Amino acid sequence: MTLSLFQDMEQCQSEREELCPGAIVLHGFAVPYEVAILEALRDITTRAPFRHMVTPGGFRMSVALTNCGSYGWITDRTGYRYDAIDPESGKSWPHMSAVFVKLAQDAAASTGFNDFKPDACLVNCYNPGARLSLHQDKNERDFDAPIVSVSLGIPAIFLWGGLRRKDKPMRVQLTHGDIMVWGGPARLHYHGVLPIKEACHPLTGTHRINLTFRKAA
Ligand code: SIN
Ligand code: FE2
Repeated sequence: MTLSLFQDMEQCQSEREELCPGAIVLHGFAVPYEVAILEALRDITTRAPFRHMVTPGGFRMSVALTNCGSYGWITDRTGYRYDAIDPESGKSWPHMSAVFVKLAQDAAASTGFNDFKPDACLVNCYNPGARLSLHQDKNERDFDAPIVSVSLGIPAIFLWGGLRRKDKPMRVQLTHGDIMVWGGPARLHYHGVLPIKEACHPLTGTHRINLTFRKAA
């Protein structure tokens, strides 16, 4: 009994990885939610299908995206921003389900960010070869709230940089169910995703899905 409790605690600790003050990976944290998340995702993508948006520089993003919540993150030739309306349908984004809110709040609280109230969830879909170049998340109104990022499906190498674009990023493997939370002193760190390698996951097939929860407004 004592031994198994000790082993559980040890496993719990090895599942948290602090990359720097304010940035923590919770390995496997979302696994218990996987079926509920994928179910909710089917509803979201029925109303607001994944699409490839264009950057202000005119490039088509290799990552396909959609959103749920009161606000969605979008990009077009005029810039990056949050909008309450899906530009493709002209309607509001799908509602953020209770299971999404609970997952994001639990992950934030377990890394010390209490009272996280996400109002936006960006959903990214990566096919093999898709990538995300180094960037800061800075379209939100204030930077007090953390970013909660949930990885599902095939693995990614996440680049975790510093406060300056030129800071050499660490490479962090993110696999199915991993959650990364960054806030406080880490809130404006540069980050990105290397081109996704071909793989197959029993729940998502040949895709990687990433949900990022934000407090946009
Ligand atoms: C993002 O920075 O918006 C997404 C990060 C990821 O896909 O892991
Ligand atoms: Fe980001």
